[in-house]
Amino acid sequence: MSTPRFPNPSAPISTNVPLRVLLLENIHASAEQLLAAEGFVVERVAGALKPEELKERLRGVHLLGIRSKTTVPESALEHAENLLSIGAFCIGTNQIELTAANTHGIPCFNAPFSNTRSVAEMVIAEVIVLTRQLFDRSREVHTGQWRKVATGSHEVRGKTLGIIGYGHIGSQLGIIAEALGMRVLYYDVMTKLPLGNSRSVPTLAELLAQADFITLHVPATPSTNMMMGAKELAQMKKGAFLINASRGSVVDIPALAQALQSKHLGGAAVDVYPQEPETNSDGFVTELQGLPNVVLTPHIGGSTEEAQEAIGREVATSLIKFVRSGATTSAVNFPQVEVPLIPGTHRILNVHRNIPGVLRDINRIVSDLNANIHAQMLSTDSNIGYLVMDLDQDVSAPVCDAIAALNTDIKTRIVS
Ligand code: NAI
Repeated sequence: MSTPRFPNPSAPISTNVPLRVLLLENIHASAEQLLAAEGFVVERVAGALKPEELKERLRGVHLLGIRSKTTVPESALEHAENLLSIGAFCIGTNQIELTAANTHGIPCFNAPFSNTRSVAEMVIAEVIVLTRQLFDRSREVHTGQWRKVATGSHEVRGKTLGIIGYGHIGSQLGIIAEALGMRVLYYDVMTKLPLGNSRSVPTLAELLAQADFITLHVPATPSTNMMMGAKELAQMKKGAFLINASRGSVVDIPALAQALQSKHLGGAAVDVYPQEPETNSDGFVTELQGLPNVVLTPHIGGSTEEAQEAIGREVATSLIKFVRSGATTSAVNFPQVEVPLIPGTHRILNVHRNIPGVLRDINRIVSDLNANIHAQMLSTDSNIGYLVMDLDQDVSAPVCDAIAALNTDIKTRIVS
């Protein structure tokens, strides 16, 4: 692991000025509305910025909002002296150098769960589409064929939905499926409270043996890598359907193609793939193309206008809470602290290098000014400590200046 690089101590950041926000990549207007309502000055840019341009545009900016196409390297953070926080208005945060942001005292927020409903609804649609072979019938009529058949077409009422991964998406999906009269079983490595009449099963094999539809809602981890391979597909009921809108690493695509060609499975819906094109203009090839009753979508499970709006609200709210109170809960690269504001106290936020003696130095500064610490909450990771401190006396400015002058200081500000 490379040694973390820390910025030189600098003056406290003043938030006693209208805060400047830079929103890139057409972030949903819901974000701008919330940020502007706080009195922040919001500047919008339609596209992504290249790192050099980003570096220039970040001067004087307090909050940066990006989506997936703007990379934020350490070089862009080094000169962003006023930058308090970054909002990734999307799910992934790989585009940000998260460790560098951490050592520069910049928490990064994303919106991992704002699009869960969109995924659940798409999967429900696919359950019905697959069991009625709707896409194949539709394609036939588009090409002038009239195949009015009932054989092999079924209602979903009374059928069993097997959910692998009963988290945010899986559990919502179970509720909607029950409303359609489905029986819901799930398998999860964690103990999860069943919602409605859904029931957990102890092993994946049991789920595969019982379900008419298997749908995957697990994260990409070593334990889920290729968890649906030839062996597991063979354990599914004959004629059952597989749906994957989780991650491309979870299903062995050649084995799935084989299970479909041999007619062991009745169909599949796949939204995510081991390798996905970077842009909409790149071509795409998969072994699943052209197979009957196979629905292929381009990773759109969470892509709805409602999800974009919810993402805008969720990330903007995290940024506002961080500005107003220092709350870092749900930050992806930062020690987690959330302390309610106490009326009549004066809050200072400090990020420092995580080395022995920092708290002692800070407490000495406070006591030398005859101030009393009303509340103090410190959370650390291997690089940094994040301190939220409420003082009874309004000596925040001299305390803040003195803390910022410590050579362990990374970022200090008064909550105003
Ligand atoms: P979550 O974190 O709320 O739930 C995941 C669940 O999977 C947890 O309950 C966890 O205990 C369980 N799990 C982990 N490893 C497991 C294993 N080996 N076997 C069984 N269960 C296991 O995640 P959420 O929000 O429900 O998302 C699920 C997946 O959906 C993620 O991979 C996410 O990337 C993907 N997703 C896809 C979208 C799309 O556009 N297609 C949009 C949003 C999310």
